[in-house]
Amino acid sequence: MPFPLLIVTFISSLAMALQNPGDQVSIAGWNLQSTHAVNSNLTAWSLPHANVSSWYRIGPRATILAGLLESNVYNESDLFYSDHLAGISKANFDVPWLYREEFSLPEFPTDKHLFLKTHGITSKADIFFNGAQIASSDLQIGSYAGHIYDLTSHVLVGQNALLIKAYPTSYRDDFALGWVDWNPHPPDSGTGVWRNVELKLTGPVSISPPRVTTNFTADALRSPVNVTVKTDVVNHGGAPVDVAVQGSIHSTDSTKTIDLSYQIHLPAHSNSTVTLNATIDDPQIWWPATWGTQPLYNVSINASLPSGAISDIAPLTKFGIRHVVSTLSSDDDVAFTVNSHPFQVRGAGYAADIFLRFDLDRLEAIFQYVLDMGLNTIRLEGKQEHPELYDLADRMGLMVIAGWECCDKWEAWSYNEDNPGTLWHDEDYTVAQASMLHEAEMMQPHPSLLAFLVGSDYWPDDRATDLYLTALRSMDWPNPVIASASMRGHPRQLPASGMKMDGPYDWVPPNYWYGDSFGAAFGFGSEQGAGVGTPELFSMRKFLSDSDLKALWSSPNAGQYHLAPKNGVFSTRKIFNNALSKRYGQSKSLEEYVFKSQLMDYEATRAEFEAFAVRQNASRPATGVVYWMLNSAWPSLHWQLFDYYLQPAGAFFGAKVGARQEHVVYDYESKNVYLVNHSLKSRGTRHIVVDLVALNGTRLLHREVTTETAPLASKDILHIPDITTLLKGAVGFLRLILKDDNPSEPLSRNVYWLSGQSDVLDWDKSEWYTTPVTTFANFTALSSMEPFTVAATATVLGDDKSRVSDTLTSVEVNLENQSDVPAFFIRFTIVDSTTHEELAPVFWSDNYVTLFPREKLRLVVKVRAKGGWAVTMRVGVGDERTLKHQ
Ligand SMILES: *[C@@H]1O[C@H](CO)[C@@H](O)[C@H](O)[C@H]1NC(C)=O
Ligand SMILES: *[C@@H]1O[C@H](CO)[C@@H](O)[C@H](O)[C@H]1NC(C)=O
Ligand SMILES: *[C@@H]1O[C@H](CO)[C@@H](O)[C@H](O)[C@H]1NC(C)=O
Ligand SMILES: *[C@@H]1O[C@H](CO)[C@@H](O)[C@H](O)[C@H]1NC(C)=O
Ligand SMILES: *[C@@H]1O[C@H](CO)[C@@H](O)[C@H](O)[C@H]1NC(C)=O
Ligand SMILES: *[C@@H]1O[C@H](CO)[C@@H](O)[C@H](O)[C@H]1NC(C)=O
Ligand SMILES: *[C@@H]1O[C@H](CO)[C@@H](O)[C@H](O)[C@H]1NC(C)=O
Ligand SMILES: *[C@@H]1O[C@H](CO)[C@@H](O)[C@H](O)[C@H]1NC(C)=O
Ligand SMILES: *[C@@H]1O[C@H](CO)[C@@H](O)[C@H](O)[C@H]1NC(C)=O
Repeated sequence: MPFPLLIVTFISSLAMALQNPGDQVSIAGWNLQSTHAVNSNLTAWSLPHANVSSWYRIGPRATILAGLLESNVYNESDLFYSDHLAGISKANFDVPWLYREEFSLPEFPTDKHLFLKTHGITSKADIFFNGAQIASSDLQIGSYAGHIYDLTSHVLVGQNALLIKAYPTSYRDDFALGWVDWNPHPPDSGTGVWRNVELKLTGPVSISPPRVTTNFTADALRSPVNVTVKTDVVNHGGAPVDVAVQGSIHSTDSTKTIDLSYQIHLPAHSNSTVTLNATIDDPQIWWPATWGTQPLYNVSINASLPSGAISDIAPLTKFGIRHVVSTLSSDDDVAFTVNSHPFQVRGAGYAADIFLRFDLDRLEAIFQYVLDMGLNTIRLEGKQEHPELYDLADRMGLMVIAGWECCDKWEAWSYNEDNPGTLWHDEDYTVAQASMLHEAEMMQPHPSLLAFLVGSDYWPDDRATDLYLTALRSMDWPNPVIASASMRGHPRQLPASGMKMDGPYDWVPPNYWYGDSFGAAFGFGSEQGAGVGTPELFSMRKFLSDSDLKALWSSPNAGQYHLAPKNGVFSTRKIFNNALSKRYGQSKSLEEYVFKSQLMDYEATRAEFEAFAVRQNASRPATGVVYWMLNSAWPSLHWQLFDYYLQPAGAFFGAKVGARQEHVVYDYESKNVYLVNHSLKSRGTRHIVVDLVALNGTRLLHREVTTETAPLASKDILHIPDITTLLKGAVGFLRLILKDDNPSEPLSRNVYWLSGQSDVLDWDKSEWYTTPVTTFANFTALSSMEPFTVAATATVLGDDKSRVSDTLTSVEVNLENQSDVPAFFIRFTIVDSTTHEELAPVFWSDNYVTLFPREKLRLVVKVRAKGGWAVTMRVGVGDERTLKHQ
């Protein structure tokens, strides 16, 4: 469905933009410089007309490194190549850096106030305005702590200067955005003005952004809904005042408007919370993407004085009517409902950019990938980004689990056995509270929020929990609050989290997920996966040197800089590489290694999502899984469903098949076939066709089953007892096809390559990051398959308007296997004819496909293709050809 992008405008002429009470603007950009490089008189720097010609010019929100990249001091492709990032001296960032901006302001009448709004500065900052210090770093501290400062008495008519001195960051000591073992740490540790800084003009009375709650519980979808809109009203003036808070709620399709209004008397220098009530008689309900549409309502409110003059206008706020609940089962597993329906979380962990750069167009592509894979949730572990992220999630119907991060200052409590941070002191509790207040205010009205996790690996202590809960309550937080993402313990005030964090993070075989301990498919896995996400060669060549690439396939135990930081468990691909050569045979070239890696990545992600789908209504239900992870902060070799350049590879298409709405699944352990249905409404007759063929194409098994499907359920429909016997230790292909009564394309088509020898896990020797394998499946015979011939054509279907920001070209690819043997794991790409770049983002209906003998298959691809393009087809390790297209 098309949706307009949120447009954020930065107006450079503040004098023009700050004319009337209620006007708010973001600082349009900064001059950036190290305190090392300039004289130390900050009073002088914070006066207008300073000479900043030697400073860098950067955008409105940028860490130091992001600013230096913007200023071409560093070059991303160079910095991300091999281990170049390690060459940047951290010493440059051990001193404070200055962010400075000058702007002109008009003359304001005496009853006007000019406020400065921050949304978190890393790690902390002194703030100066026109020669006066207006905030010090004991208040403006923490990446998520937003504050409001009154600048009024320092305003100059004409030029004004704002100076922010941002202090260096230590993940041990500061409430920042750390990276643990995700990737190498940025040399500036994320220091700087990473979020917008705003100026707001008001009269004597200001109002806060509205907080919206409803009494909607989804018991009756069409009954009226009471909406409560709250705003905090402050009288900054020395005289009492009668204030009218008024505005309206209107549906974004403009079919309905409800007026809001309330009168309040405020004594001098006082504040109060105003509650406005409205009833929506015929509510439009917001749904997650796969369950329905995403209607939103706008709330606009302002405060006016008895004269009729507006004193402040709240930012336009959107909300959606929906109801989210979490419960704990008798097994202590958490389960969510959205609008009263069991909502199985099929999600993945989101990574911000390594330098916290934020690109809304890129984020939209990432979210579209999430939905394209059939996933419904992202988890933000301490990477809460910006308001635009939540707007986008609301519009696209993507659920968000937000929360604080692990493994640094945020979880530095005495009972944390893995604590690398400095234990919290009194002042740290104040920072945590300010952070919670700010993030809760930002997220409060958004229907995409599923929960906030006040801890990740460890739960907050009782004192911190009190502050977090009080802050959330005061912001009218309407969603579940969960103690942590693990089951290690919980504070007095919150129940057990019901989320397991028992691994794996590194490679395990597909049948792992059908086990009954650790990360296997039961309960709620908050972060787990087989560690896969190998990019294709085209991407790898952008960030790996020849010797890095050589090491990848020829030194299986070697460290790689583009994995987790040195000496950690995840700094090599040892476990993966051992399994790869045991299962698929030793690779004799880079191309062969990458091809085989895609096979194993595909198997891994498909099995994880399938096992959780199969067990959604088991006796101990699989209530949710968050794949570790969705994406990477920079070019990475693991822990991602698509690579940094937004190229989807084996892991992506494994996940996409495994998470299909309606699907047929082979359970590697029980050898049963399951019919899966994640939809809310689809029911009726379904036909399942099961075929098993040998490598030479001989049919070994054929079954057809007709059955009924039911929403939000999985159903055991067929047992295949004879696979192991039939395969006699060799390798075969199992194809499952699901159709409804409509004779056109199948609802699902799923091909497995199976070994007569199953992977055997040694569960008792499990580590927190993997479970070892004693006997590996044997797929080596795949390397000596008969050659096959596939005929393929590409036909342009036309323009696709599913992205408003962009028109995509839609192309159909028709394939026919003209051989009597299976055509195995064929990869398609679409490349720019001039640059030969593989285009991305790219949306394939399916990819890395295996065709049975004589089978035909139709694929569709949508891509942003500006110039000439061509579809290429790769068969096996090296044979790549370009398809002619009409
Ligand atoms: C710093 O600059 C201000 C403003 O120009 C000036 O008044 C003050 O004397 C300077 N301080 C020092 C220590 O130089
Ligand atoms: C500003 O400083 C630069 C050197 O950093 C100097 O070349 C330039 O002349 C100065 N401009 C003014 C107007 O003083
Ligand atoms: C960045 O560096 C690469 C490799 O050194 C070079 O090819 C490229 O032209 C540079 N790009 C820019 C924008 O400077
Ligand atoms: C919400 O309020 C409306 C209006 O009073 C009422 O009709 C509806 O039943 C209420 N819903 C719930 C779940 O209480
Ligand atoms: C809903 O709002 C109406 C009018 O504002 C009020 O009379 C009613 O009591 C409210 N219902 C609930 C359930 O809060
Ligand atoms: C509101 O008033 C309370 C009590 O006087 C005070 O503690 C608080 O700081 C005030 N809040 C604002 C935003 O002015
Ligand atoms: C809205 O309802 C709340 C609680 O029922 C009440 O305190 C408040 O005064 C009402 N607001 C208006 C404007 O009627
Ligand atoms: C094909 O493979 C099957 C199973 O391995 C075997 O039984 C059969 O003899 C083979 N057929 C041919 C024609 O090689
Ligand atoms: C794996 O299969 C191949 C070919 O079928 C066979 O030659 C080899 O001995 C098998 N390896 C093991 C460890 O069983």
